[in-house]
Amino acid sequence: MISYASVSDLIRREAPGNPLLCFSPGSIKKRVEQFLAHFPGETGWAVKSNPHPLVVRAVVDAGIRAFDVASRHEIDLILQYCPSATLHFNHPVKAPEDIVFAWHSAGIRSFAIDCPEELEKIDAVLDGAGETARRDTVLTIRFRNTRPTGTGNYCFDEKFGAHASKAVDLLRFADSLGYRTGLTFHPGSQNRDPESYATLIDLGRSIAAESFAQGTAALAHINVGGGFPCSYPGGLEPALKTYFAAIAKAASYIACPLICEPGRALVAESANLLTRINLRRKDDPRLYINEGIYGSFMETPFVDFQPPVQAHSADGTLFPEAGTYNDFQIWGATCDSLDRLRKPVCLPSTIGTGDFIEFGMMGAYTNATATHFNGIKPAELIAVAEITSWPTGTTTATQSHCE
Ligand SMILES: Cc1ncc(COP(=O)(O)O)c(C=O)c1O
Repeated sequence: MISYASVSDLIRREAPGNPLLCFSPGSIKKRVEQFLAHFPGETGWAVKSNPHPLVVRAVVDAGIRAFDVASRHEIDLILQYCPSATLHFNHPVKAPEDIVFAWHSAGIRSFAIDCPEELEKIDAVLDGAGETARRDTVLTIRFRNTRPTGTGNYCFDEKFGAHASKAVDLLRFADSLGYRTGLTFHPGSQNRDPESYATLIDLGRSIAAESFAQGTAALAHINVGGGFPCSYPGGLEPALKTYFAAIAKAASYIACPLICEPGRALVAESANLLTRINLRRKDDPRLYINEGIYGSFMETPFVDFQPPVQAHSADGTLFPEAGTYNDFQIWGATCDSLDRLRKPVCLPSTIGTGDFIEFGMMGAYTNATATHFNGIKPAELIAVAEITSWPTGTTTATQSHCE
């Protein structure tokens, strides 16, 4: 496989006309090490954040052995790269065929549910496998708070999750059938509030206490989900260790193993997106690039964070930091009029057609969600030895020009 020394080297050698996700595994190793050393339990990874084989291999090489999978395809993928993996099928609503495959062919014994109907689907698959099958299987009840948790980015409480009293009923139901049980929640992606994990663990503790009082067995685990943030420019997210401390403190009141399954926090910083400007109109703040919301920028209309940027001229040279900068509107590659980045991007005022914009921290929910809308191919992910990383929690040099 061709690997490039840097993004500038790639531009010089290829002058790429299609957007490219420039991937370098170093940040994955660092992030995984932080989780493995300091998270007070087992660290898994949510495969959905980036199922590209190079990324999967990097996560496995960094030492992750547990995975949150959402489909049969993700199960196959992980078993190919890590045959001894522990898989948690934590999609609360699974295709019946996928449950059959997961339990009978892939040996998965851990499933999330949030209602009795999903439990019955799983139980039907195990029908006839005997009591031991149920005892070997952990059903993890996904619950939610009555108030939305998290801090504005992606509320994960509307689609899934049983309220506390229903979670108690579900736990008792699963226990009465002979299953082992666990609890899980998702506090919202790019969560900026470490205490929201503590609040949800406390709620989990009261759900568990109420069901113990009614005779259920001890929990197999509490899975605190993902949601751990990355430091996008200007976001001033608390450091990971603040999350781990809040989780450890709340969990110290409940004697049960912990699991987490971050997606974004492990892989976002591993890829920068290289895009080319296909048109700059004269005396106009609109730039039209070869990528957009139907490609790697799927998230941007929904969230209040924006990736850091730097600009390269057509020959790969970085624009100097000194000089005049302006805010530009960035419009996407399709013919669709919704296709634009929500916030303006600060770029050199002389940037023009044929120059390149590199967006940092684009390794999560980018290639994973891109479409072929308008016949435009999703950005390819390629290996680049070293990519720029931006200092934690600070604004970029170029953005400060426009503030
Ligand atoms: C069940 C589950 N776990 C973990 C994650 C990963 O979340 P994040 O990328 O915010 O860490 C997701 C994301 O959608 C999820 O649905």
